Amino acid sequence: MQSVFLIGFMGSGKSSVCTCLADRLKWKAKDTDHEIELYYEETIPQIFATKGEDVFRTYESHILKQMPITNTVIATGGGIIGKAPNREWMKKHGIVIYLHASWNEIKRRLADDTQRPLWKDTIAVQALFKSRLPLYEETSHYQIQTDQKTVDAITEEIISLI
Ligand code: S3P
Repeated sequence: MQSVFLIGFMGSGKSSVCTCLADRLKWKAKDTDHEIELYYEETIPQIFATKGEDVFRTYESHILKQMPITNTVIATGGGIIGKAPNREWMKKHGIVIYLHASWNEIKRRLADDTQRPLWKDTIAVQALFKSRLPLYEETSHYQIQTDQKTVDAITEEIISLI
């Protein structure tokens, strides 16, 4: 069966749902951020700090195309939908699920986060959140509202859809 790509903003629960869904389906679990760190031998904060966001986006697009297109659940970085070829590639090669969380919920979940280079200036990140919403919508085959839901409940919802 085609792989599942999980898309959504930072803090929408992609990584937790990825592990749980892969476990339930007995598929492999992959995370594009983790694969970038393994392949380029640098952490995401280091890449942003030493090479900048544009280089990170080039790495991300390259890694996306290396992801298995069958029987794998893939958690993607929140900005993967920024490039049209990435959006087209995921929609063509997989089942794309958008995990939506409200801005207030994301702020709550990431209140203490120090690992995400783009999670700094609240006004700027809220504008980024708003600007990405239509891209998540247009890229996805299915959308799931995640506020107040457990990872298990979201996983079962995805299984009922695919
Ligand atoms: C980013 C989200 C991060 C990571 C990088 C950039 C973004 O992944 O790829 O820090 O642009 O939204 P998560 O969505 O897993 O936090």
